[in-house]
Amino acid sequence: MPSDFSSGLQRSYGCSPVELSSLRARYNRLLQLFNATFAASEQVFVVRAPGRVNLIGEHTDYNGYPVLPVALDRDIAFVVAPSSGRSVDLINENAAFNRRTFVAEFPLAPYQQGDWGNYVKAAIHGILEAGMVDRNRAIGFNAVVGGTIPESAGLSSSSAMVVASALAFLAVNNVKFDRKLLADLLAHAERYVGSEGGGMDQAVSLLAEPGRALRIDFFPLRTEPVPLLKEITFVVCNSLVRAPKSENARYAFNRRVVECRLANALISEAIRRKTGKIVRAVHLADLVSEDTRLTSAELQDATVQAIGEQPLPLRAVAERLAKNPREVERAYCTLRDGSILREPSDGFRVWNRYRHVVTEAERVISMVRAFREADPGKIGELMNQSHASCRDDYEISCPELEVLVSLGREHGALGARLTGAGFGGCTVHAVRTERVDDFIHCMVEAYYHGFVRQELGRDFARYEHLRDVIFPCRAAGGADFWLAEGNPG
Ligand code: GLA
Repeated sequence: MPSDFSSGLQRSYGCSPVELSSLRARYNRLLQLFNATFAASEQVFVVRAPGRVNLIGEHTDYNGYPVLPVALDRDIAFVVAPSSGRSVDLINENAAFNRRTFVAEFPLAPYQQGDWGNYVKAAIHGILEAGMVDRNRAIGFNAVVGGTIPESAGLSSSSAMVVASALAFLAVNNVKFDRKLLADLLAHAERYVGSEGGGMDQAVSLLAEPGRALRIDFFPLRTEPVPLLKEITFVVCNSLVRAPKSENARYAFNRRVVECRLANALISEAIRRKTGKIVRAVHLADLVSEDTRLTSAELQDATVQAIGEQPLPLRAVAERLAKNPREVERAYCTLRDGSILREPSDGFRVWNRYRHVVTEAERVISMVRAFREADPGKIGELMNQSHASCRDDYEISCPELEVLVSLGREHGALGARLTGAGFGGCTVHAVRTERVDDFIHCMVEAYYHGFVRQELGRDFARYEHLRDVIFPCRAAGGADFWLAEGNPG
């Protein structure tokens, strides 16, 4: 292998010589597959974009409140070269994902829902839409793609795919970019796949720093690296319950986005009635920054009156907003593809969603303080509180996540919570570093060899290696690309 290929890996991953040899083997495989599939090219790039684990701040990003994720040393990698025209030709190292070929043009029609090629299309569509690459002169690419992030597990493999695709497209078109602007652009672009997510995943994948968590604030995007503590290691456990963003979890996710929009509308309307002031809050977080001339107790009061604690059918929301139900649907329930989110049969749970978001936002701020004050006990306590709020108010847990969280605490975790969008996927546990091996051993016995085996009739995701389902998190740096010259040696 040419030396600059390896030095690119070492620089980008900041790894030891031992790790470098396994990385070289991985990238060598991708490069060999590339050479066996595509014509030789003078310019071959290597691209990598990490997944993430969110420590705290769940479902706060799209409400304008902060989050605190860590980028993982697990990522999506591309070996990629410009194609001769505008065609994009993608081979996935994982044979479960079929070859995809399309033309880099705008607008770009998506594949069927759930198709992996849509994440690549999302990036290209977004970049062409924003004019970062000229639609008439766009150059396509040939790529071999390989990933080490468990998919549909709440570790953001889909956003990593979007980020890697964007870097590949920008690299072959020789376009320079600003990471923050690109993160914003891709957060918007990813809605192409149909879920109304916020900007956390793309931002941390592009802007993370090694060894640190990243506090991210939104609208406008701002980041603050938060050094992690040596005495605590975060251990990620995959429940093996798949929660693909493109399938059932999509309705559940979008429903919560809509419920937050309704909270914002109802509170804004209540403030207008109380003060005569028109509130223009785009996100829930704007309500606090608005000059409403209300004390926080009055705002709290207005909120209780506006929402009430019971679930609200669409009709009740419409009455409170003095609109008709169709207007409410058009204004607040419309999704990116123009479809209207159907009303949940049990009504919109506006109060609980609101309470989760505002208390979770406070917990993010306290968590950053706890890291600065090196207070492991507080970190654990905040994680536990966050989990309870995600479970009870945001209702994004499931029985398997509950089992993992309780087992984690039983086996000594200082704090444990679900991470990511929820409805399956992973938990994250704060564990004293000297106890990590023991903790992992106990969790393997109790969950993967215990619970999962007992429940084998159920539909758990399969895995090859335990190290892919339970692992200590090592905070990686943000996405990267570099030129690889020559062929594998
Ligand atoms: C998904 C979304 C993120 C965020 C999380 C929940 O990962 O893509 O933007 O909303 O869910 O915190």
